[in-house]
Amino acid sequence: MMVLPDIKREVRDRNDIVDIISSYVSLKRHGGNYVGLCPFHNEKTPSFSVNQRDQYFYCFGCHAGGDVFTFLQKYENMTFPEALKFLADRAGVALPEVEMTEEMKRNVNRKKQIFEALKAAENFFYQQLRSERGALGKRYFEQRQLTDETLHKFHLGYSLQYSDALVNYLRKKGYPDDIILDAGLAGHSEREGLYDKFTNRVMFPIYDPAGKVIGFGGRVMGEGTPKYLNSPETSFFEKRKNLYALQLARASKASQFILCEGYMDVISMHQAGFTQAVASLGTSFTPEQAMLLKRFERDIYLAYDSDHAGTDAALRAISILRQTGLVARVINMQPYKDPDEFIKNLGAEEYQKRIDEAENGFLFEIRILRKNYKTDDPAEKTKFETEVARKLCVFSEELERENYLNAVAEQYGIPKDSLKKRVISEAAREGLKSAQERVQIRPVQTEKKSNAEEHAKYAQRLLLTWLNEDRSCFTRVKEYISAEDFTDPLYRRIAEKMFADLEAGVFRPVEIIGMFDELEEQEAASQVFQTKLGTEVAKEDKEKALRDIVLRVKQESFDQASGTLGSDVNALNRVVEGKHILEKLRKIDRI
Ligand code: CTP
Ligand code: MN
Repeated sequence: MMVLPDIKREVRDRNDIVDIISSYVSLKRHGGNYVGLCPFHNEKTPSFSVNQRDQYFYCFGCHAGGDVFTFLQKYENMTFPEALKFLADRAGVALPEVEMTEEMKRNVNRKKQIFEALKAAENFFYQQLRSERGALGKRYFEQRQLTDETLHKFHLGYSLQYSDALVNYLRKKGYPDDIILDAGLAGHSEREGLYDKFTNRVMFPIYDPAGKVIGFGGRVMGEGTPKYLNSPETSFFEKRKNLYALQLARASKASQFILCEGYMDVISMHQAGFTQAVASLGTSFTPEQAMLLKRFERDIYLAYDSDHAGTDAALRAISILRQTGLVARVINMQPYKDPDEFIKNLGAEEYQKRIDEAENGFLFEIRILRKNYKTDDPAEKTKFETEVARKLCVFSEELERENYLNAVAEQYGIPKDSLKKRVISEAAREGLKSAQERVQIRPVQTEKKSNAEEHAKYAQRLLLTWLNEDRSCFTRVKEYISAEDFTDPLYRRIAEKMFADLEAGVFRPVEIIGMFDELEEQEAASQVFQTKLGTEVAKEDKEKALRDIVLRVKQESFDQASGTLGSDVNALNRVVEGKHILEKLRKIDRI
């Protein structure tokens, strides 16, 4: 039987990371690396780098990083076993029975069971809608004029009145309670134990872009609150990172996506032949969703409700889309409220015309803005024009800005030259791109650590980076430092493997990145190897700097060990030995 690290290595070695990533991101050769625009955050200048020699990627902007498996896990939302299978198939490697650690087995199993439970629930709801007991749901969808074909295409379903129908069904299929709970399918109370989260609702399964069920929306039939009940937010059901019906819409041949507000809008659009329709999942449109759509290189047409709230939502979406580098257009649905109503009343052909006539997102913004000013009053007119100039500053590229400027000037009868002058003075004041447009996807901040701790971590990271970059100094460093001296748990694990591998002369960064199960850990490990010392340590002081870093790491280790004396048998050794080494280090200025 082959053990997992071996098979993982074999699959990795047979899939060049540059090949894999290039099929999603356009990469250019740059020095020893390949660089491109990061697919995990929005940017105009490339900070995403792929290291071919060492087979890992790292983004200096958002710190995403890892090996070829990490990339697929993040980009395609695959689980590790899925990524392994995908790459093994691609390279024609037969996957043998793999021997995994108990913990890995448990984790893989849990995830698998959760997705299976979700799939089973989807099936259950689907069957109920088509059974006698689902007559109410069936009637509801008929009232909404959905055909059987549509019901099937979206796998729509029905949850029964009884509060334990699904829970019992899943238990009978052998799913343990904690899986049912973690899948977001049940609630728990002291008195009743598990109870169904969804009862007496028509059910909308929600999929990830690859078509895996990740959650549900359940709508009351008729009036009642909440109108929609959605699966709880979990690590696999993240509303801000998924879009309703994207798994279907991605296959559409249309040159755009149509972004709607509601599930029902999407469904009636698809039924009318507009299979390019998607919707957010009950939250407003997010930068993550924009990044997701960006992969498909299509324009985004907005079909938001034509009421006040819909207009506001459209304005926010336009701004996000622009920052992501996507063209937005707005579909006019007047005199109807939403696509569902529009299509029911005027039909698909009329709707297609509205798509063809959709208004440019920026011009839409200006038209809405204009409503706030009485432009027959000269003072108000000036304010409006100033505001227009300010808004034109969001275009940092001159040609694009010129085109918009010309269009707006024409539409509102503003003299081009004076508008241009105003743009220049606004730009001088605020800079191109106003501050409010600079929303970025930031990696989630973990809890704030104390300064001293951050300092210690920094020194440890730097030492690891150093050892990677200049492997020849290992023999000197190991006289003073051992893997035990790394007090940060993650860096400790990296150090343990790195020291052992350097000692054996088999060190490869990608092996270390691949040791970690969690994406965050893989990212942190990639950061260690990707960071360049050049930027952090001035060359002339290099020798001295190494000694300082070694001293700092040793000091921290010593302090920590002194603090745990008495409770840890190892600590005594570390203190005795540490004291000796620290004294030695303080006497020299290079190692
Ligand atoms: N939504 C939600 N929770 C609610 C209300 C709405 O999650 N309590 C989300 C759903 O994703 C819904 C979208 O917001 O699809 C739009 O809401 P709405 O326009 O009220 O629903 P529609 O899908 O248009 O449904 P219907 O046509 O039945 O009104
Ligand atoms: Mn609606």
